[in-house]
Amino acid sequence: MRKESEKRDSLWQSASQSPKKKASGNMPVKVAVVLGLCLSTVAAIAVWQRERETLAIELRESTENLRSALQEQIDGNSDLTGGNFSAGELLKATLPGQVLENLNIYLYQESVDGEFEPLAFYEFNAHTLIVDRLDPPKLSGRGWLCPEFSVPSSSSTGQAFRQLRQTQTTGKPCQRTLSVGDRQWFLLLLPTSAYLAPYKYWQSWGIFLGGSILTSLLATYLLVSGRYTKQVEELVEERTIKAQQLQKALEELQETQGMLVHSEKMSSLGQMVAGIAHEINNPVNFISGNISCTKEYVQDLLKLIEVYQSHYPNPDPDIEEFSSEIDLDFLAEDLPKILNSMQVGVNRISQIVLSMRNFSRLDRAEMQAVNLHEGIDSTLLILNNRLTAKAGIYGIKLIKTYGELPLVECNAGQLNQVFMNIVANAIDAIESYDKQRSQEEKKANPSWIAIQTSVGNASDIRGGYDYVTVTIADNGPGIPADIQKKIFDPFFTTKPVGKGTGLGMSIAYKIVVEGHGGTIRCRSSVGQGTEFTINLPIRQISTNQKPNLMEICVA
Ligand SMILES: Nc1ncnc2c1ncn2[C@@H]1O[C@H](COP(=O)(O)OP(=O)(O)OP(=O)(O)O)[C@@H](O)[C@H]1O
Ligand SMILES: [Mg+2]
Repeated sequence: MRKESEKRDSLWQSASQSPKKKASGNMPVKVAVVLGLCLSTVAAIAVWQRERETLAIELRESTENLRSALQEQIDGNSDLTGGNFSAGELLKATLPGQVLENLNIYLYQESVDGEFEPLAFYEFNAHTLIVDRLDPPKLSGRGWLCPEFSVPSSSSTGQAFRQLRQTQTTGKPCQRTLSVGDRQWFLLLLPTSAYLAPYKYWQSWGIFLGGSILTSLLATYLLVSGRYTKQVEELVEERTIKAQQLQKALEELQETQGMLVHSEKMSSLGQMVAGIAHEINNPVNFISGNISCTKEYVQDLLKLIEVYQSHYPNPDPDIEEFSSEIDLDFLAEDLPKILNSMQVGVNRISQIVLSMRNFSRLDRAEMQAVNLHEGIDSTLLILNNRLTAKAGIYGIKLIKTYGELPLVECNAGQLNQVFMNIVANAIDAIESYDKQRSQEEKKANPSWIAIQTSVGNASDIRGGYDYVTVTIADNGPGIPADIQKKIFDPFFTTKPVGKGTGLGMSIAYKIVVEGHGGTIRCRSSVGQGTEFTINLPIRQISTNQKPNLMEICVA
């Protein structure tokens, strides 16, 4: 051994120190050896280079094959769903002439919690890509890692791979890490021992083939899962839209039903009021017409008594007695007064009847130019009972500030509903507020409802339309900001079950905004009160010109 190494050393040294001297003697042999070595190295490099080029060409071909094979499958299968790709065909087309039996391919992903999660696999005996039956391969014995691909060193997936590698006995797995977006996939190519025996080139270009096959598998998987996800998404979207449409239809149905019930209620109230007004109207006219005659007759009779008295200053004692019994002088003085007050009462009844007829407005179902004050007054008359003080309950003061309003083209019966709903809400709010307030508070700060009307011109927002404004305010409890946003929603109520349907304000909104092209606005602050402002165009304009403004301003 020593001799050999000394010989080598001396050879090296002599070659470097005194080439001429050493060249004499063994020169041809050495040159031949060196040349041989060089030639064989060059030959090996050439072979290796050729192999590389061949592999590169094959890889390019396989990629191209894969692309066209995939395209073919896509073109031939317009409604592909998960798992319908024929992976066997795909692999055969990608690697023509290669025997792919005894080759199993697995696809894993690292899940969010760092687990080792199998996704899909190709089994040589099944020749199919399986995505719905995912059993991780049971590897045992020592594994083998493709040289140019690495596994993550720190992650649990990396550890899992290393474990597989260490325990694998049959065949040598090739694995590869691929990152797409923020996801990572791990591909495992596992040839069985039966594959290794006949195919010696496995270790050299098998890596490229493996990479190519695995890439094809991943591409297939991504395509399949992408399509599948898209289909599921489309289905979910379709169903969501249908569910939303159904929900909307249901809500509209409930809203319409509620509105029907409410308008039926209002119409019944209107009919009842109209009926009562009609029934009272005849006898009242009867009384009113007769009272003026009665007054005349009474005046005449009293005059006659006066004439009698002047002609017979000393009447019969019986007449004298009866006169003093009935207190003729007082009677003569009081009777005209009674008749006058009866006349006032009858006039009042006539006014009430007129207001009741105004309220019901059954005769004015269509748009007509009307006096809004009449509608407001008739509404107040219907609600008068709730405004006046009763035993133990303070009344609600009514403050009316009416401006000079022109006749407004509107559906009077519907607008009366609006006034009714708003004033009734104000009364409800004040009543419940007063239950919480002490007598002193109520005395110091009595409840009121103020109604104000005016004319305006909104040249800025409504293209110069003239409009009237009706403001109905109260000094009740006010409405919290979060509730204010909902008061115009159908069925929204803060009242106990059975007391409120929650439709009053939504109907008011529909009538004013949709029915008349007006606006309705609510301003309120807790503890201060609430104010509803209605703007109505004086003349109705065609539907497409109608301003459709809905503003809810929070004070
Ligand atoms: N002036 C007001 N003061 C305080 N809260 C009010 C006033 N007006 C309306 N609200 C609130 O708005 C809600 C909705 O009113 P809306 O008239 O739509 O329904 P409702 O009065 O509850 O029931 P109904 O269908 O019988 O009218 C009321 O429940 C109440 O909470
Ligand atoms: Mg209401």
